[in-house]
Amino acid sequence: MKKILLAIAALTVFLPAAAADDQRLRITHGPWLCDMTSDGVTVVWATNLPAMSWVETGPDDGRSFYAEEHPRWYETVDGRRVANKTLHAVRLEGLEPGTKYRYRIFSQKLETWVNYDHATFGEIVSSDVYTRPAYLFETYPAGGADCSFVVLNDIHARTDFVKRLCSGIDLHDFAFLACNGDMVSSVENERQLFEGFIDAAVELGASETPILYTRGNHEPRGLYADRLRDYFPMRSGRFYNLYRYGDVCLLTLDCGEDKCDNDVEYRGMADFDAYRERQCAWLREAVRSEAFRSAKARIVFLHIPPVEDWHGNNHLKELFVPVLREAGIDLMLSGHTHTYEFYPAESTGYGFPIVVNSNDTYARCDVSDREIRIRMVDVEGRTTQEHRFPLK
Ligand SMILES: [Fe+2]
Repeated sequence: MKKILLAIAALTVFLPAAAADDQRLRITHGPWLCDMTSDGVTVVWATNLPAMSWVETGPDDGRSFYAEEHPRWYETVDGRRVANKTLHAVRLEGLEPGTKYRYRIFSQKLETWVNYDHATFGEIVSSDVYTRPAYLFETYPAGGADCSFVVLNDIHARTDFVKRLCSGIDLHDFAFLACNGDMVSSVENERQLFEGFIDAAVELGASETPILYTRGNHEPRGLYADRLRDYFPMRSGRFYNLYRYGDVCLLTLDCGEDKCDNDVEYRGMADFDAYRERQCAWLREAVRSEAFRSAKARIVFLHIPPVEDWHGNNHLKELFVPVLREAGIDLMLSGHTHTYEFYPAESTGYGFPIVVNSNDTYARCDVSDREIRIRMVDVEGRTTQEHRFPLK
């Protein structure tokens, strides 16, 4: 009996302390970078409680981050700073191309907000710039053909594996980390998204090297799939985009599902035929743009390779391939099949090669003004396949 009373007494002391701890604001995930351009980037992170958040940036000038005040960047919606969210996405704009910037993230707890604008704010938490250097990133350059990047696909939430796979590389050596689809098998809730991939990407270096995100056919599945865009926010509001890294044009395309929209697996929720049609209308315009036409190398990221005889593949063949064949691209990078495959330009008649990276290797891509070199590297650090594609 005495023991029980002691246990109850201990609980009454512990519970309020734990409850108070839950009310303390913490940065819980991130930051990670996405939608990088030559003049901006989006910084994303999460807190355990609603907060108003901002980013402070400074030059990479070797001075202490405490040396002077820094400009602040807030997440705003229609002229107002966002204050009632736990997922924070701050766009930095007007930056110089090919320039290194240091940054620090801040969140201030929203204490109360009953109505109107009678909000009160509490404690501020931030990333550490005292015991470690401030985060650092480099905007994409305005010109130059040199571009090295790493591609991962079909990880399907195998975070321990992806950490081992990438243990021999330092993401700082690369322009970006291309996630080419199926990083998770479905998107069910925020926790699963963090545990399934985002936390691992941050650990690999996504706080400083941006993620170039392409959806696979698995990410549109799940209860929380419609929220995926919040975790990889694009200024365009789309999952398909055109980027320039110097003279290299990067097209990220969104494959949609692999089976017919009326397949029993989708329970009537798939509408990808119309989506791919709309995307193709955008693609036709994108390849006419100066950004595409003036590029010296053009690389397409498309999770499902437009080969084989499934409906999704066939629809991509029918819609995207003629546009890309006519526009002229240098390389398509795909995944989906979980095995390495190579389709030379001559074998498909598409006019461009397709390299399918397996689910057990990363692809390292090095672009120069002469060629695109791609190497598939396994968990032992061995190059398992290599291709060189001369640039025209
Ligand atoms: Fe997959």
